[in-house]
Amino acid sequence: MSTVIVVGSVNIDVVAVGDRMPLPGETVTMGQLTETHGGKGGNQAAAAATLGATVHLVAAVGDDPRGTAARRDLAARGVIDDAVTTAPGPTGVAIVLVDRAGENSIAVVPGANAALTPALVVSALTAVTGSDVVVVACLEVPLEAIEAAASTARARGWQFVLNPAPASPLPAALLRLVSVLTPNETELSVLGGIDALLAAGVGAVVVTAGAAGCRVYVTGTAPVRVPASPATVIDTTGAGDAFTAALAVGLSDGRSLLDAARWAAAAGAIATEGFGARGCLPARPQVAARLARTGRADPTHL
Ligand code: RIB
Repeated sequence: MSTVIVVGSVNIDVVAVGDRMPLPGETVTMGQLTETHGGKGGNQAAAAATLGATVHLVAAVGDDPRGTAARRDLAARGVIDDAVTTAPGPTGVAIVLVDRAGENSIAVVPGANAALTPALVVSALTAVTGSDVVVVACLEVPLEAIEAAASTARARGWQFVLNPAPASPLPAALLRLVSVLTPNETELSVLGGIDALLAAGVGAVVVTAGAAGCRVYVTGTAPVRVPASPATVIDTTGAGDAFTAALAVGLSDGRSLLDAARWAAAAGAIATEGFGARGCLPARPQVAARLARTGRADPTHL
């Protein structure tokens, strides 16, 4: 069975849904307000567990009712939470706006996520055994914790998948330890573009492009476009997390990067078909059925 360790954030998402996003300086009336479970790390862990992987989450929640609720949701989804620490203060909160087309805008208040330390990360990763383990991280936790995850993964001979969201320039020493980076178009431009990332030593870059699928870049090989599976979009929140999680599960399964990217594109598409970041996370048979139903959309060279 595949094993994934997620080092990342846990948030409660306060979601407002309306016809359209406010412009800068504008006030709009939204139609519905909901609290759901989120945080890129928690979403990735939940998505990988739903795909049947053994999933360890390394994260921090607050000592408030939201932290208790967040833990309960993760445990119910099969995520192993031994390395989820409880820190004094509030759990992270994300303010999420979703428009009629399912697009989102997100502002995060990190709260307890800022309490995730390198020591917690190293101790959690050292406790896991196995050879095909894949470690996943995002940028919603302190950089030192991510660096500890990357260097421990490298020392253990494990692949390290980094979802560089929210985007920020990254140190060269960290980029060298990244097996696969999964930016979207905006994050890619903040990080300096494909050539700079590959030159910095990133093993592979998989750029997610929503309805346009994803593009796979590896040094020395021609870039490849992987088409998306068609989807009836309700809410794109968390689709990138489902994509990154499925990619990690695919790699831990022993799939090639391209095959894992096809698998991930289908999982990401399905994740847009429900409300909230974890509203429509697919299990393996659903991903397989989506790929079968939409035909074998072959990757094409760019
Ligand atoms: O990727 C979606 C997630 O980003 C949301 O769940 C929100 O919590 C923010 O972390």
